[in-house]
Amino acid sequence: MANVVVVGAQWGDEGKGKIVDWLSEQADVVVRFQGGHNAGHTLVIDGETYKLSLLPSGVVRPGKLAVIGNGVVLDPQALVDEIERLSAQGVSITHDNLRIADNASLILPLHRELDALRETSGSGTKIGTTRRGIGPAYEDKVGRRAIRLMDLADLDSLPAKIERLLAHHNALRRGFGLEEFSATAIYDELAALAPRVLPYMDAVWRLLDDERRAGKRILFEGAQGALLDIDHGTYPFVTSSHTVAGQAATGCGLGPKAIGYVLGIAKAYTTRVGEGPFPTELFDETGELIGQRGREFGVVTGRKRRCGWFDAVLVRQTVRTSGIDGIALTKLDILDGFDTIKVCVGYRLDGREIDHLPASQGAQARVEPIYEEIEGWSGSTAGARSWADLPAQAIKYVRRIEELIGAPVALLSTSPERDDTILVHNPFEG
Ligand code: IMO
Ligand code: MG
Repeated sequence: MANVVVVGAQWGDEGKGKIVDWLSEQADVVVRFQGGHNAGHTLVIDGETYKLSLLPSGVVRPGKLAVIGNGVVLDPQALVDEIERLSAQGVSITHDNLRIADNASLILPLHRELDALRETSGSGTKIGTTRRGIGPAYEDKVGRRAIRLMDLADLDSLPAKIERLLAHHNALRRGFGLEEFSATAIYDELAALAPRVLPYMDAVWRLLDDERRAGKRILFEGAQGALLDIDHGTYPFVTSSHTVAGQAATGCGLGPKAIGYVLGIAKAYTTRVGEGPFPTELFDETGELIGQRGREFGVVTGRKRRCGWFDAVLVRQTVRTSGIDGIALTKLDILDGFDTIKVCVGYRLDGREIDHLPASQGAQARVEPIYEEIEGWSGSTAGARSWADLPAQAIKYVRRIEELIGAPVALLSTSPERDDTILVHNPFEG
């Protein structure tokens, strides 16, 4: 049996929450390995909706172990709030079902403030971030001055670590003409949070390797999408972590061979939140219609998502940068009833035709989509649970996508309800 990595194959919001929940029934352990509470994963179980940002989707199911790996940036306040929210919905979270890597870096209020400050200052590039402090926290991690979860267990050494962090941040604050941060205020806040988060702390690399050796099935839950990857995405309009499948190993301390199958999640069309290039974006009533039908508003920030046609060039590229074995195609029903559907099969760049997304920011902004038109279908695909329930044209659309992206559809999701799923190949079978 293979361990499975789930990654977004577009710009996030592909419907990963539902698929991860669907797969978690067969898993013993569910692991987050990058990102933070910028993710917004919605699960609908027996009519009850759960919205998760930081916690792995496995926590809502009894008997599953949820793990937050070292690759995640952890906002301890957001963690405590999310645990409280879920408790109010009847989900019990204890050391028995949640573990957090002792070496995970923390997001502090100063990161959130800096994130917002950069987004509003008008100088530099506006990214359209979620303003959760994700980027500044990763900067401090790579800059070797982060406060990590384990530091909350050693309060005597914490003041010196805060001083080191503030030497950097207060220099920035002075540059912005703002009041400096107080070390004692940060210390007091962290010391108060410590007893609420430390019970979950563990050496996750060891725990997961033991689980793996014991034959337990591990599901790695990616957040964001491959096109938001810090290297492989539409830089600088990306998030600050690696969102491609390779990160699943480093983001929790396992070797690359722990990964058996990579499942990419792709929507039957494309959306993006925030700034940045989007070759197939629609600015007309079709784009509006897709957005309304698909309820394309952010879980985390409530922002309206930009909508456009399926871009096979991009997904073909993420199939390669993540080594995707199969795709879970979601929200096909949103395209029900269109006379024709367009799919982007290549780009035109400065008069030439190309088959990939170029790396440069300028070129990414200039590419124009080359479309293929596919006849739509009049019947409904919503709630379909077998291929026989699908209109013939809808099947043709799915088959064409498989050809264009170079990966098979392993799962087809036809509504937010978990059982409205057509299984072609079980990812856990490798
Ligand atoms: P899920 O897991 C979609 C986007 C932001 C912004 C960029 C950088 O729900 O698919 P950040 O706050 O990470 O520094 O913002 O990344 N972004 C997402 N877009 N889905 C997400 O998560 C996202 N998380 C971040 O909109 O463009
Ligand atoms: Mg989201």
